[in-house]
Amino acid sequence: MHSYNEESSKNYLSAISRLKLLEEGTSKIISDEIEAANLDWRNFSYSEYVSQGVYSLSLLSSDGDGSNTLIKDCKPKPTEVLNKLPKTAEILNNLGLDFMWARLNLLGPNACLWEHRDYSELDNREKLRLHIPVKTNDNAYLILEGKKVHLHKDGLWKLNPADFVHGAVNEGEDRIHIVLDCYVNDNLRNLIKDEYLDESWLADLKKPTTADFNDKLINALRLYQGDRKRDAEELLLRTYYHFNHQEGGSLDLVREMYHLLGKKEEVNLWESRKTRFLKQETYENLTAAAV
Ligand SMILES: [Fe+2]
Repeated sequence: MHSYNEESSKNYLSAISRLKLLEEGTSKIISDEIEAANLDWRNFSYSEYVSQGVYSLSLLSSDGDGSNTLIKDCKPKPTEVLNKLPKTAEILNNLGLDFMWARLNLLGPNACLWEHRDYSELDNREKLRLHIPVKTNDNAYLILEGKKVHLHKDGLWKLNPADFVHGAVNEGEDRIHIVLDCYVNDNLRNLIKDEYLDESWLADLKKPTTADFNDKLINALRLYQGDRKRDAEELLLRTYYHFNHQEGGSLDLVREMYHLLGKKEEVNLWESRKTRFLKQETYENLTAAAV
């Protein structure tokens, strides 16, 4: 039993960890700078992957354009957004990381990212995603491996977004994170040696019963029949934040709703989304959906 617990917490550490504590007040310095810059936030490029209320801007991008937020392998250039944020630029510079891309991601109240993996459309250079929470609240979570975890301020966090299915939900006021996609270099390897995760930061999600899912499906069907198709889909996708599903379980529920409705095209669409979200995405699909 003991070794099983150790094994499972070790597994969780490879999914998410705090790499280091940043100097106290770092998040506030960045947050104040962002607020003063009065940024022109853009809709999140990965529109199929998110609810309403998710916005993004690039700090480092392939062409130096802050509105270009569809990531790809590159040696990035500073954007006009980063040029407005000199203190933030200095904080990022001092990390000594090999950046592929850097974004600001904003989740408004109740905004979320559906369950997915990242990077399957990219090349196979070793990379990891780091987060610096800039502005956050106790009800903003990442979800992975059937648990929810709040990333606290003044921390540099590591997420392994390719190997672990994850999602995010913000049940409070606006949440802003800096999201850094990094090629793994010696500095990052050294940071990982000191990574840390406190068990008290993790909360277990409920194991769902068949009755739980039937209940959600009945409610979703009612919404669909009341001409609220998007709300019906979202009700089912949001089960990811409250239940410890099997992988792809929230996407399967949407497919199941359309199966019950006899909507074959929608069944196929959600089957293909499940494959793209969890296994294999392409840059072409993302570009087409982002228009
Ligand atoms: Fe992700």
